[in-house]
Amino acid sequence: METVVSGIRSTGNLHLGNYYGAIQNFVKMQNEYNCFFFIADLHSLTTHPTPADLHGNVKQVLVEYLAAGLDPEKVTLYIQSDVPETTELYLYLNMNAYVGELERSTSFKDKIRAQPDNVNAGLLTYPVLMAADIILHRATKVPVGKDQEQHLEMSRTFANRFNRLYNHDYFPEPYAFNFSENLVKIPGLDGKGKMGKSEGEGNAVYLSDSPEAIRKKVMRAVTDSGPTADNQEKPQEIQNLFDLIKVVSSADTYEHFDNLYNTCNIRYGDLKKQLAEDIIIATAPIRDRIKDISTDSAYLRQVARHGAIKARESASKTIKDVREIIGFRSF
Ligand code: TYM
Repeated sequence: METVVSGIRSTGNLHLGNYYGAIQNFVKMQNEYNCFFFIADLHSLTTHPTPADLHGNVKQVLVEYLAAGLDPEKVTLYIQSDVPETTELYLYLNMNAYVGELERSTSFKDKIRAQPDNVNAGLLTYPVLMAADIILHRATKVPVGKDQEQHLEMSRTFANRFNRLYNHDYFPEPYAFNFSENLVKIPGLDGKGKMGKSEGEGNAVYLSDSPEAIRKKVMRAVTDSGPTADNQEKPQEIQNLFDLIKVVSSADTYEHFDNLYNTCNIRYGDLKKQLAEDIIIATAPIRDRIKDISTDSAYLRQVARHGAIKARESASKTIKDVREIIGFRSF
């Protein structure tokens, strides 16, 4: 059975981008593959270095993973920092990752722009830690959104480089995965790029948002003054709303508003109302389960412990092999 690995940073509540870009695939994959899903709390230290929010955020992501439908009996669900083998492999991979190639990564360039006062080495080697997460379980499939494509390419580079250097065909090549073939990019509500936690207030709709909060955010989404000619190309901010409709609404709804747009009869207020209601319906089961699960501390503790044991079983086997391959041997 093929092995799957993926993770989500513990920097706050999960949003529709995380759900439709990644988690929806996690849930589908759990029945067909040997899955490892984790909470990337080590990665979150590159941008959130203080302990203040760490534990709360890890708990929130764990709750939301479970609420979205991950079954800890079917998948290995764990917290990255509970598996120290990850950091050992990260160290080995760092010895063969070149500063030049790391500096060229798009996410590094974005991050140094976003936090010029904290350009730490962890940001630079972020893709190495990610490669370690993945190849630690010798995974071949990695369900992620479009923004992670370059990181997966780098993971393949590091895996292949290790194999070449030690002349051992040990790590398989990991590839980004989505059931519908194309990787997904869910747009935000600010009229610009993707939905994200750090893209500013009101851009992201969270899985834990109340129906009222969802309505408020969607009604404030950026729009233009409307089309002036039939079949006009949609500007970015309008295309974004249509992209969201495509994901959460029915095909009929999409077609209905698309026709209204193309004949210059669209009323954005109506479109937003429909979009908000469809988001509310799509997220309702998750929202309900978040409330139930978050109060069950004993269950959460048990899931995290069980996950750590299972993840370490797989990880320690790899580390044992890797030590042997690199040449660490006991006397
Ligand atoms: P993170 O925490 O930023 O996002 C988690 C997952 O959600 C996806 N995603 C999106 N997909 C579509 N549209 C969006 N607007 C959107 N926003 C987020 C991301 O693509 C991702 O799949 N580096 C990773 C975490 C990580 C990881 C790994 C992932 C650490 N190690 C190993 C896979 C394998 C990250 O920052 O994701």
